[in-house]
Amino acid sequence: MDMPIIGVGTFGSDHISKDEMAEAVSLALKIGYRNIDCASVYGNEREIGEVLATSGIPRDQLWITSKVWNDSHAYAKVIASAKQSLKDLRLDYLDLYLVHWPFPNFHPPMCDVTSRSPDARPYIHEQFMETWSAMEALVKEGLVRHIGTSNMSKAKLELLLASASIRPFANEMELHPLFGQYELLSYVQEQGIRAIGYSPLGSPNRPERDTTSEDKVDMDHPVVKELASKHNCHPAAICLKWAQGNGIVPIPQSTKERNLRSNFQSVMEDPLTSEELALLKTIDCNNRLIKGQVFLWEGAESYHDLWDEDGIIPIPERYRKGGVR
Ligand SMILES: NC(=O)c1ccc[n+]([C@@H]2O[C@H](COP(=O)([O-])OP(=O)(O)OC[C@H]3O[C@@H](n4cnc5c(N)ncnc54)[C@H](OP(=O)(O)O)[C@@H]3O)[C@@H](O)[C@H]2O)c1
Repeated sequence: MDMPIIGVGTFGSDHISKDEMAEAVSLALKIGYRNIDCASVYGNEREIGEVLATSGIPRDQLWITSKVWNDSHAYAKVIASAKQSLKDLRLDYLDLYLVHWPFPNFHPPMCDVTSRSPDARPYIHEQFMETWSAMEALVKEGLVRHIGTSNMSKAKLELLLASASIRPFANEMELHPLFGQYELLSYVQEQGIRAIGYSPLGSPNRPERDTTSEDKVDMDHPVVKELASKHNCHPAAICLKWAQGNGIVPIPQSTKERNLRSNFQSVMEDPLTSEELALLKTIDCNNRLIKGQVFLWEGAESYHDLWDEDGIIPIPERYRKGGVR
């Protein structure tokens, strides 16, 4: 099957238990969702696997994504991580397997925003390609149908596309009306890569470590609210219609039946017009919410170093070939 036009997120942040998330997935399947965005680091694949196994939905009618976490970028660890996700999710294959972040940098659960791992590194292409070659091997073994990336910049994708034997099927990226990433989105789509939009509602309950006083709230924006009243829907639905109108597959997360249902419905009916999409483009304000500070290496100045905003991947001298690896 092809990837369904909307999925359901399963990141419970620091406040949704594994069982609550599994219950939300169960509700989502009953409502009609067939695309589930999982990840080993979310710590709930075993509970979700139980729901999938007992849902009665034939495997070929489900699209299941999982992701290899940053602590498993070495070749053998990628393979082992995929096999563990398959075991936990009780599946023979994944529809899509993503490299969660392009860095082998990770942080202890619940750490605070200033936390830095001494082992953290900037992006090193040769190391990423080792990870990617393991991802390709998983396709060849039949354990995953498609592979993809997440949290990539255009500069990193260009390098990957120049080196990969199997191109990424999808790139999962933060996308919501106030953070449209239009340039990167166009590049991804021009390359024939599907764009999966995470935090499509502006992640109102994201962890404290990803919240700053400058952050704006998509669902409170006057233009989003005005369109919601015009379409007689919740501002959340406008965010999801925005995603759909821009060719993005959104993966909103909710534990509430009412919200799961209205999110699903919002991409099935009453799309935004091209004028409304153009209006929403004008409110984009580069409002990145998932900044990734905890993945920074020692010596990095700010989260901007993670995203190659000027088109250049920063590689400090000591990490260049022959330097510290
Ligand atoms: N690849 C990556 O690095 C990455 C990063 C972040 C997220 N993700 C994925 O993307 C998924 C979604 O992102 P997210 O969870 O950060 O944020 P989100 O989907 O933008 O927001 C989720 C929040 O919105 C609320 N909500 C959902 N539907 C609503 C509605 N109709 N009206 C009002 N509020 C509503 C939910 O609360 P209720 O439970 O109260 O509805 C929940 O707290 C994640 O779960 C995860 O699977 C991936």
